[in-house]
Amino acid sequence: MAKTTSKAPGRALEGVRVLITAGPTHEAIDPVRYIANASSGKMGYAIARACRDAGARVVLVSGPVAIPAPEGVELVRVVSAADMLEACEEAFPAVDAAILAAAVADFTPAHPKDRKIKKDEGGLAFVELKETADILETLSLEKGARVVVGFAAETNDLIPHAEEKLREKGCDLIVANDVSRADSTFGSDTDKVTFVAPDGVVALPLLGKDEVAERLVARLARLLAESPRE
Ligand code: CTP
Repeated sequence: MAKTTSKAPGRALEGVRVLITAGPTHEAIDPVRYIANASSGKMGYAIARACRDAGARVVLVSGPVAIPAPEGVELVRVVSAADMLEACEEAFPAVDAAILAAAVADFTPAHPKDRKIKKDEGGLAFVELKETADILETLSLEKGARVVVGFAAETNDLIPHAEEKLREKGCDLIVANDVSRADSTFGSDTDKVTFVAPDGVVALPLLGKDEVAERLVARLARLLAESPRE
């Protein structure tokens, strides 16, 4: 990998390969119904564009969103949490860093049906769920010298919850997002985030998602420069 120090201004990730996840996942109940969440994918796509503009080679693994594919980025479209894990496992060995901004479903139907459930069959009154694999935790366990960044979407106790995620998932940085604020929630164009890392906590002001992405690129470049690489 190219060294991450002494890059031209604005090209802080020249030669760096980055995996990014974005958007929600859809978990099938039957062929026409699914469990999802309100993630728009805007943050992950903004990060993908910012990494590309900083010179990185980007693989963007995206759940179902209504955002055009960014130019100059390898886009892998997935639907479910299981698909997202598979695509990430495939891309991860060849990257230097991963930024997991997707709002992955925590639960998925245990027994999805291959034909539409009729309401008089009663099968929709109780849908048995099982936990999905945690992609951030899985990749962090395999990370070696790679830098892995996760997100924490919280409505309360933002910093303690983010610190717990940093510790439990074993990543290098958590971008903690206060989604109780209307200007920092799923679908908004701004975010109020705090970088939570083992060496401390940095609260950013309310910024546009593109500006949050630029700050994250700068932070990632520093983390890569500090990480023990060949
Ligand atoms: N994440 C993941 N795989 C999952 C669930 C979450 O990779 N199955 C990642 C997200 O992409 C994000 C981070 O974990 O980077 C935290 O996601 P969040 O939804 O805030 O936390 P959870 O671990 O799901 O915990 P909880 O919902 O209890 O807050």
